[in-house]
Amino acid sequence: MPLDPHSPVLVLGAGYVGEALLQRLADVGCPSYALRRRFEQPPPAGARAITADLNDPGTFAELPRDLRFIVYLLSPDASTDHAYRAAYVTGLERLLASEAVRSSPVERILFASSTAVYGQTDGSLVDEQSPTEPEGFAGRRLLQAEAALRASGVPAVSVRFAGIYGPGRQRLLTSVREGTASVGPRPHITNRIHRDDCAGFLLHLMQLERPEPLYVGVDDEPSDLRSVLEWLAQMLGAPPPRMSDAGSARGRGGNKRCSNRRLRASGYELAYPTFREGYGALIRAGA
Ligand SMILES: NC(=O)c1ccc[n+]([C@@H]2O[C@H](COP(=O)([O-])OP(=O)(O)OC[C@H]3O[C@@H](n4cnc5c(N)ncnc54)[C@H](OP(=O)(O)O)[C@@H]3O)[C@@H](O)[C@H]2O)c1
Repeated sequence: MPLDPHSPVLVLGAGYVGEALLQRLADVGCPSYALRRRFEQPPPAGARAITADLNDPGTFAELPRDLRFIVYLLSPDASTDHAYRAAYVTGLERLLASEAVRSSPVERILFASSTAVYGQTDGSLVDEQSPTEPEGFAGRRLLQAEAALRASGVPAVSVRFAGIYGPGRQRLLTSVREGTASVGPRPHITNRIHRDDCAGFLLHLMQLERPEPLYVGVDDEPSDLRSVLEWLAQMLGAPPPRMSDAGSARGRGGNKRCSNRRLRASGYELAYPTFREGYGALIRAGA
């Protein structure tokens, strides 16, 4: 399905992934609106900046009414239940009730969710059908937002992204270079996706005739954190990661293998299929 040069895309939360998506939309000649509270630099050509706060209910009355796609990429201001509810649940519910959605010819809303909805910590394989029993508020609020989207009747797709990395977001790489990287005694399977693949896949979802309502957004290779850090150390000529007793299989991101089978079946070709291509490109670029 071609993107219509007359029907703009609204990107709510034009941050790290949002900026990359706006650039892609500009590249294919699709007009867009970029919304956030503070623009440190103007959005790419072709995107109109909207400086607004989605925590302010008045913002929704001001949103454009000529939208074909809306992409919801807000992230919370803090790691608290209150902040997660404000970013994911309240904001999305207000959007769904807004005139922008009711009066626009909205074809699809795309919502960035997270693999934090999965509570599995035993290294098992998870996909779109797996149980979602998160222990933390983050996963619970995201599930609440996904449910609100499903119940709204507006055509929508949720993408559960894993850890997003790329230019400017290379925490692991920096920790290896600085010699502060450590691993625990037990395996800790981690999942990730490059920023450019987040943006590329969201654009792909706008072009699909009949996307599924839910995707897991990860690359091809769930990997033990130790093997990622050791590979980075080798590439950087840095010492291998330290062993740490404090390390736990239940660390950040849990311990699970996220399957991208459905993403692959949609026809999307990953630009960075594994951490090796992604971090390799960052290292070559001098990151
Ligand atoms: N980063 C990850 O590893 C990861 C993993 C899984 C899922 N996700 C999800 O993927 C999405 C994109 O992530 P990202 O890394 O691109 O996030 P990001 O860089 O933090 O971008 C989010 C944007 O939302 C804007 N925003 C936040 N609160 C707002 C409000 N009340 N009103 C208007 N704008 C607001 C922020 O800009 P201002 O501060 O200027 O308003 C920011 O630019 C998010 O939903 C995130 O939760 C991320």
